[in-house]
Amino acid sequence: MQTQFGDSSFRFDWVISPALIDQALKRFSLGMYSIHGPCHWARVYENGMRLAQSTGARLDVVALFALSHDVCRTNEGIDRQHGLESAKWIQKLNGKYFHLDEEGMDLLVRAIRYHSDGLIHEDVTVQTCWDADRLDLARVSIFPTPERLCTTAARNADILSWATERAFRKVPAFETLKQWGLDLNTCVVE
Ligand SMILES: [Fe+2]
Ligand SMILES: [Fe+2]
Repeated sequence: MQTQFGDSSFRFDWVISPALIDQALKRFSLGMYSIHGPCHWARVYENGMRLAQSTGARLDVVALFALSHDVCRTNEGIDRQHGLESAKWIQKLNGKYFHLDEEGMDLLVRAIRYHSDGLIHEDVTVQTCWDADRLDLARVSIFPTPERLCTTAARNADILSWATERAFRKVPAFETLKQWGLDLNTCVVE
């Protein structure tokens, strides 16, 4: 059965457990209202699930990317180390808070480590992760152009305008925030 954001046979809680969310929130130092915080992670998750319907990306990798790619940010501006640090952080949790095979872990680490380097060419799962993140750039008034996106799915006019509108208005990804057990009032609509 298809839901708004993908195949309902994918159980997010097999990958993203309450304990993993707890770890991410403890590690993240910029607070619940951060533009790189949980509300951004949840929109990236929904962007990724939607893109994956077309790209065929690995959902477990996309889900883990959404939750963890900005976890080690130390500021809201330029932080060139946060991809590397977030990749190192998630590697330490594999086998304890989630279980990803070697290939999946390799994809996840590449996706996180290089997500802010502006790259385009990669495995389709990594590309889907990067596009899911870039589709939320309008929250900081950066509007992704099709040539800066990796996948045909993300360049689709309907998806691009859907995600950009949500990002610009900082619309809370209610479905995902609820699944993650987070307070929906955390994300303020401006
Ligand atoms: Fe980032
Ligand atoms: Fe991000």
